[in-house]
Amino acid sequence: RQTERESLYIALNYAKTFFQDHLLKTDEGRGIGLSYFRERGFSDPTIAAFDLGYSPDSWDALLTDAQAKGYNPDVLAKAGLTVTREDSKKVFDRFRGRVMFPIHNVSGRVIAFGARILKADPKAPKYLNSPETDVYHKSQVLYGIFQAKQTIRQEDICYLTEGYTDVISLHQAGIKNVVASSGTSLTIEQIRLISRFTQNVTILYDGDAAGVKAALRGLDMVLEEGLNVSVATFPDNDDPDSYVRKVGAEAFRTYLKGNTQNFIAFKTAALLRDAGADPFKRAEVITEIVGSISRIPDPIKRQVFFQSTAQQLKVDEQTLISESNRLIRKQR
Ligand code: GTP
Ligand code: MN
Ligand code: MN
Ligand code: MN
Ligand code: MN
Repeated sequence: RQTERESLYIALNYAKTFFQDHLLKTDEGRGIGLSYFRERGFSDPTIAAFDLGYSPDSWDALLTDAQAKGYNPDVLAKAGLTVTREDSKKVFDRFRGRVMFPIHNVSGRVIAFGARILKADPKAPKYLNSPETDVYHKSQVLYGIFQAKQTIRQEDICYLTEGYTDVISLHQAGIKNVVASSGTSLTIEQIRLISRFTQNVTILYDGDAAGVKAALRGLDMVLEEGLNVSVATFPDNDDPDSYVRKVGAEAFRTYLKGNTQNFIAFKTAALLRDAGADPFKRAEVITEIVGSISRIPDPIKRQVFFQSTAQQLKVDEQTLISESNRLIRKQR
């Protein structure tokens, strides 16, 4: 079992180098992949720091090269690098004609790939990812954790974004304590991974409706783990990548300082906006927020949030505390 996993790591590392070589050393890769990264403003050191690559636009370039070098086709398939066609049973490369984002585990080994299409195509997904394999469990991984962990520890805070390019652009701008959930809602394993390095998380989700929704979802779980959670929202249609490229590193940091809100306050404001003046809906907001606060393990922190949220909701603090006690009784 152990040696089987080891053979997957070796194949994935080979593929990483294959995609890098194609990006940097072939006319196709330089003309299509490298110029794409350049257009996005990625520098050579950034491309190297994230092991970015390019998969040639061919059915079996990787498979052919790998087999010539002695790699077992079964291992390539188990690593998620090739796929077998249902009907014809023909085997071909999974990643073709895309820019490649290797996904590293916390110790820096390549365990999977994210692959971005170059031109928008309604018939193909923008990002194609490796399937779950013996070494890649999507729910346990945070993109960029290997490149970020040292700075997360130093700065004692982790920025959590949605996408690969958010991590890369912020890293290039000197903000290196950044990881991405890669478009999925946060899992308990991912939270525990962050909590190995810091107890402080700031969510930097996209400034669209989906981003705000995602920021609200799954976050109660983070509170339950005892982490301190804040949220920074971006202007509509911007994500951390586009915003840092627009305004630069300095202004980005200033923006963060001015637009970061504690998660409880952020959630309260978002729910109140939706509830409007409807008293029943406002009552539901109170129950929902008290539910979130009640998950915080530290009683002193809970107390602080009852105080500030009472002001925000314009209700008596004691009302919130009784509601919390009622919820806790109900849970038992
Ligand atoms: P760019 O368009 O390259 O700037 O990427 P983005 O990261 O801004 O993309 P977006 O905000 O649309 O999505 C956030 C993250 O969700 C991406 O980085 C991916 O990890 C994931 N994602 C987006 N689109 C797809 C898709 O079509 N398939 C899969 N599997 N994941 C996706
Ligand atoms: Mn496993
Ligand atoms: Mn988005
Ligand atoms: Mn983007
Ligand atoms: Mn985005």
